[in-house]
Amino acid sequence: MRLQRMITMRRIPVTVFLFSLLFLAPFCHAATDRLTKGQSIKDGETLKSSDENFELGFFSPGNSTSRYVGIRYSNIQDHAVIWVANREKPISGTDGVLRIGEDGNLQVIDGNGSLVWSSKASVASSNATTVRLDITGNLILSSNDSTDDADEAYWQSFNNPTDTYLPNMKVLIGSAEIHVLSSWKSASDPSPGNFTMGVDPRGAPQIVIWEQSRRRWRSGHWNGILFSGVPYMAAFTTYQYGFKVSGESDGKLYLTYNPSDPSELIKFQITWNGFEEQKRWNNSTQAWQVMQSQPSEDCENYNYCGNFGVCTPSGSPRCSCLQGFEPRHPDQWRLGNWSGGCGRRSPLQCQRSSSNGGEDGFKAVRCTKLPDFADKYRATSDDCKKRCENNCSCTAYAYVDAIGCMLWNGDLTDVQNHIQSGNTMHVRLAYSELGDHSSRMATHVIVLIVLAGLAFLAISVWLLWLLRKKLKATSASVSTNHELQVYDLSKSKEYTTDISGPGDLVIEASQVNGPDLPMFNFNYVASATDNFSEENKLGEGGFGLVYKVNILCYTCIRM
Ligand SMILES: *[C@@H]1O[C@H](CO)[C@@H](O)[C@H](O)[C@H]1NC(C)=O
Ligand SMILES: *[C@@H]1O[C@H](CO)[C@@H](O)[C@H](O)[C@H]1NC(C)=O
Ligand SMILES: *[C@@H]1O[C@H](CO)[C@@H](O)[C@H](O)[C@H]1NC(C)=O
Ligand SMILES: *[C@@H]1O[C@H](CO)[C@@H](O)[C@H](O)[C@H]1NC(C)=O
Ligand SMILES: *[C@@H]1O[C@H](CO)[C@@H](O)[C@H](O)[C@H]1NC(C)=O
Ligand SMILES: *[C@@H]1O[C@H](CO)[C@@H](O)[C@H](O)[C@H]1NC(C)=O
Ligand SMILES: *[C@@H]1O[C@H](CO)[C@@H](O)[C@H](O)[C@H]1NC(C)=O
Ligand SMILES: *[C@@H]1O[C@H](CO)[C@@H](O)[C@H](O)[C@H]1NC(C)=O
Ligand SMILES: *[C@@H]1O[C@H](CO)[C@@H](O)[C@H](O)[C@H]1NC(C)=O
Repeated sequence: MRLQRMITMRRIPVTVFLFSLLFLAPFCHAATDRLTKGQSIKDGETLKSSDENFELGFFSPGNSTSRYVGIRYSNIQDHAVIWVANREKPISGTDGVLRIGEDGNLQVIDGNGSLVWSSKASVASSNATTVRLDITGNLILSSNDSTDDADEAYWQSFNNPTDTYLPNMKVLIGSAEIHVLSSWKSASDPSPGNFTMGVDPRGAPQIVIWEQSRRRWRSGHWNGILFSGVPYMAAFTTYQYGFKVSGESDGKLYLTYNPSDPSELIKFQITWNGFEEQKRWNNSTQAWQVMQSQPSEDCENYNYCGNFGVCTPSGSPRCSCLQGFEPRHPDQWRLGNWSGGCGRRSPLQCQRSSSNGGEDGFKAVRCTKLPDFADKYRATSDDCKKRCENNCSCTAYAYVDAIGCMLWNGDLTDVQNHIQSGNTMHVRLAYSELGDHSSRMATHVIVLIVLAGLAFLAISVWLLWLLRKKLKATSASVSTNHELQVYDLSKSKEYTTDISGPGDLVIEASQVNGPDLPMFNFNYVASATDNFSEENKLGEGGFGLVYKVNILCYTCIRM
């Protein structure tokens, strides 16, 4: 990026100086953050935000020699551009001018005096318009008397961003998908490229990257805390403490981002080659540090395993079919070409004319990045199931606390095995597909082990009892050392009260007669979690159900 020198005061004769002051005063505003009607800035001059973090002026990106008007960081070494006005119509030569035109709009004029860009807002009072570069990096065109209120603006760059999303920028979440940001064509060409990034409100808001009209990546549904499909580390270091989806006084829903430390410089960008990048300026290295970049691995590529396929991050192989489904093109699938996805092995009863065989049912698939294109309903968990059951075109449902009842019709798209913040989805299957052979086997094994254990225990106790009886009978004096020591936790006074953390899990036990086995008590666990109360539940993300004071982890590991 070529740096432009700021206008500097040179040594000039006093008369000339006074003369220019007289005639040029209205145009002299190098150290100001605003421009009013009649004022303009030429190539080489800048407007700066009052904290001097951002500047507005002419620049040439990368290897280009064309001139563009844009906003960029000002007082750091890397003057990254965050917004471009005339991105589709560059100016050749350095005679361009930025001004407020007769109609009150912000305009870029080339050396021939032709209009190359306009803010095209409807301006109420064209003689009293001011444009101001705010400390947030927002360029605000408004009436003279409301320059501090972005909500009153005629036009603002935050509502017309290019490829960069900044803290404090509000994205309106409407009823249809919005492509808010569009990538540059290349590092040297800010004209709109192949990629866009925005929000799809369907089901629950998701951030999506599109390559032209095709989806390339999605964040997963907003679950009230974070975007549920973003890999764990990224989610917890960036999303949880930044993004917010909230209704505002105008009754509309907005996505905003506020960093935990407002003095940090943070930006999100859709790069020219199609990646979402979150970067933070590192004061000590004086460089932008990439905090996260998406899509970051195979499974993050949209629908990598095809419809009804499931992608397992860093799994080998990455792709498998949902239970009850099989590869549609087995030869391609075996070669690692998964795009064809999977198809249903046995047709659903509700799809067939004859009604022999059992009823269709649902199979719970845990820890998934839920499929795309959900329809959302207000319903209880039971009603959610019924709603899906009653409509043959419903292929799956999920009930998520913060979202509600989600239903999917038709193909299940872009499903990922997501251990960290996944949800349980219930997939509709034909009766014959419902048996889970591996888990049935596992159940059998567990039952056998438990039975064997019980038998062993019973025999041991019986033998001990026999032994004791025999000892008592044969020996007249038996020392207490030979008494069998038994700890019965149910006699402990600790377990029902005040357990403030894992460090306090000291178990006091009373000694009674019986086998040497701690009798673990369900009440203990229940009281520690306040009867598994909803209040003590921290979330169903992470590693399953997470409870406060004590932590119970049900890891999302499938048998
Ligand atoms: C500018 O050109 C050089 C040499 O062709 C190239 O290595 C570099 O990547 C280019 N920079 C940009 C931003 O396109
Ligand atoms: C002015 O117009 C001429 C002819 O249309 C064009 O060749 C030239 O590039 C223009 N100059 C600028 C600075 O845009
Ligand atoms: C705007 O300003 C111009 C020039 O100063 C003046 O001729 C015109 O009457 C003004 N218009 C309004 C609506 O005040
Ligand atoms: C708007 O503000 C500018 C700068 O403060 C001033 O020069 C101009 O006269 C004002 N216009 C009106 C119509 O108040
Ligand atoms: C980085 O440095 C700037 C300038 O010295 C300072 O204003 C800012 O607070 C620093 N930011 C952080 C996060 O330390
Ligand atoms: C954009 O799409 C066109 C046409 O598909 C392709 O030729 C070009 O390489 C793509 N550019 C990038 C940066 O992916
Ligand atoms: C800045 O970069 C240095 C060196 O890579 C790193 O140790 C430090 O943690 C970074 N600072 C922040 C705030 O991330
Ligand atoms: C991948 O498989 C699909 C069918 O599922 C086929 O249409 C496509 O041509 C295959 N792609 C390659 C690169 O072989
Ligand atoms: C079943 O769901 C589909 C898709 O939402 C809908 O078009 C259709 O009307 C529903 N059928 C019934 C009987 O509710």
